[in-house]
Amino acid sequence: MRLGVNIDHIATLRQARKDVYPDLLAAARECIQAGANGLTVHLREDRRHIQDSDVFLLRRTFPKTQLNLEMAAVNSIAQIACRLKPDSVCLVPEKRQELTTEGGLDVKDNVRKIKSISRKMQKSGIRVSLFIDPDAGQIKAAGEAGADMVELHTGAFAEYSDPRRPNFERSKAQKELQKLLSAAKLAKSLGLQINAGHGLTYKNVRTLVGPKNLFTEFNIGHNIIARAVFVGLKQAVREMKEILE
Ligand code: PXP
Repeated sequence: MRLGVNIDHIATLRQARKDVYPDLLAAARECIQAGANGLTVHLREDRRHIQDSDVFLLRRTFPKTQLNLEMAAVNSIAQIACRLKPDSVCLVPEKRQELTTEGGLDVKDNVRKIKSISRKMQKSGIRVSLFIDPDAGQIKAAGEAGADMVELHTGAFAEYSDPRRPNFERSKAQKELQKLLSAAKLAKSLGLQINAGHGLTYKNVRTLVGPKNLFTEFNIGHNIIARAVFVGLKQAVREMKEILE
């Protein structure tokens, strides 16, 4: 199973002081050397962490590394994506007030808009993923919109499955897990590649690694960067890779 390391959190640390360190390219290099299969960055409309110059530098410096650009389904960012030509884009909902992406994209009620932006990307040779909740209606709509992949939102599963988190509740975690698995099976039957991400940790990702051949890629950031504070980035990435292998 492939690991995409979300390095937004490195840029968050840098932007906290609007400074030049930690060096995002150096961090990306360490992730790649440690076995990451790809890099994920979210160019938010408010540019709170990743900046335009970051994405172009990443593409130029690591042309052979899979680059996944998370983005809102808006024209201004779509134009940047067409110039950048990442390997894939992941369309996500975006709200200015949120701490991180909350909830999946509503594809069901926006099929035409998402189809149009997806086609634009695909014409530029970019694969399209849609970040959605594990819901049958959303999966079917993703198929209608012509997506290549879906990234299932694992946030609720993560929230309920960690005993340290205030919302910990084993039965709810189990329900969320079942939702993820049946959504993944439906997506697979529609020929979509299935990725997963959000709130995944060294611990909870093990549950998703078990059901073989469902998930192709995990996009994980926060927990890896948090671990890196103690063991260094390379070691933190290696540990996650070992779990996925
Ligand atoms: N996938 C998507 C679509 C996201 O928005 C995020 C958060 O930026 C992630 C994956 C990674 O989540 P986390 O940082 O919680 O691992």
